[in-house]
Amino acid sequence: MNPLKHVAIIMDGNGRWGLKYKNSRNEGHRAGLKTVEKIIKQSIKNKIKFLTLYAFSTENWKRPKKEVEFLFTLLENFLESKIDDLNKKNIRLKIIGTKNFTKKINKLIKLSEKKTYNNKRLQINLALNYGSKSEIINAFKLIKKENKNINIKTLDKYLQTKDIPDPDILIRTGNTKRLSNFLLWQIAYTEIFFEKKLWPAFNEVDYNKIIKNYKRIKRNFGNI
Ligand code: FPP
Repeated sequence: MNPLKHVAIIMDGNGRWGLKYKNSRNEGHRAGLKTVEKIIKQSIKNKIKFLTLYAFSTENWKRPKKEVEFLFTLLENFLESKIDDLNKKNIRLKIIGTKNFTKKINKLIKLSEKKTYNNKRLQINLALNYGSKSEIINAFKLIKKENKNINIKTLDKYLQTKDIPDPDILIRTGNTKRLSNFLLWQIAYTEIFFEKKLWPAFNEVDYNKIIKNYKRIKRNFGNI
């Protein structure tokens, strides 16, 4: 059975779910946050050490201002109301992406990361204003500046995911088969699962099914 340390998720389908059931894309995001909470709980039950969630891409700024504002209000409320609970549960929160939000959000993020820094049970990497191509370019710029040798190990060290093992599983919900600029370097040998359900409808049973299937896969990493 394959060990499972790291699950990465592209949480797609909030907008469609919200429009279909609540006549509002934003309500889809609100429901999506409930799924996030379910999946965190289930990750702990499955003894997963790293959970990386794609919450906002560098491309998501193109969305209507109202939707972007709603997403950041959700994030703000989430951090304000849940960080102590996450801390009590020994969960670490780390943000990957460029942290150039409003002063209030930047401060909340800093505080949340600091508060939970030493927690060991589960690390949640929240990808916010994240884009894999920029992440790679920035890493190369730093490597050049510091005059380091370019090799796989160095690049790994200069990415925002340094000290995080590559994902074992990548899940994308929402019945779309693309990677949307997410962890492109890190998923070279990741097992990818495309799930038809929209993110707010995705649940513990779906998650456990994917984990069970993953554990049975013969992972060769290029060997036979
Ligand atoms: C993609 O669905 C989802 C997002 C861009 C936002 C994800 C946000 C959440 C799950 C809630 C917030 C989470 C935290 C931790 C605060 P989409 O809107 O692209 O859906 P669509 O493809 O149906 O339009």
